[in-house]
Amino acid sequence: MRNDTLPAFQRFIDELRAIWSRESDTQRRMELGRDALRALVADPDLQAHSKTWPSTEGLKNLLLHTDEEHGFIVNAVVREPGRTGSVHDHADAWTAYGVCDGLEYLERYDRFDDRSRPDHAEIRRVSTTIGRAGVVDLVAPWAVHAEQGGGGRSAAVILRSQKLVGRVLQHRYDEKAGTVKLGSGPTQIPYELTAS
Ligand SMILES: [Fe+2]
Repeated sequence: MRNDTLPAFQRFIDELRAIWSRESDTQRRMELGRDALRALVADPDLQAHSKTWPSTEGLKNLLLHTDEEHGFIVNAVVREPGRTGSVHDHADAWTAYGVCDGLEYLERYDRFDDRSRPDHAEIRRVSTTIGRAGVVDLVAPWAVHAEQGGGGRSAAVILRSQKLVGRVLQHRYDEKAGTVKLGSGPTQIPYELTAS
């Protein structure tokens, strides 16, 4: 990492690396990682910095950090006002999703068909959490969910237990059509959080 990295972000990465070194269980790592992410997205410097990040419209993610030693990934997403998100899962990866600017709606779904047809899925929304700056949602592998934008711009930092794009396909669900299909995740745009 560069030596002009935003200090709050550097502390976050250092803490994650310590967690990954100390713990071997993925769920435990991600529960502790969620707590570290909560501190990051509540940090005023990080929140102010996030207002300068570019939009990720068009199924993109900013790629803030790839940990070559431990395999975790840190992304960011910046939504335009009123952006509707697709219903999806993150395959076998754990994800912690932390809002750092604006407002989002974090939706969870149950799947209740018998999974006998590869292209068919019946889902229904079971909860919606209001995500304001500082709120973190920990999403387990295969959990069906969506993040919806609010009335204004919003930004979030995402911790993934492992790389998704290029390694595994994710499910995308269409609630009204009753369909599910496999697809690649967001295009990764390398982006460094520098203090200057
Ligand atoms: Fe997601």
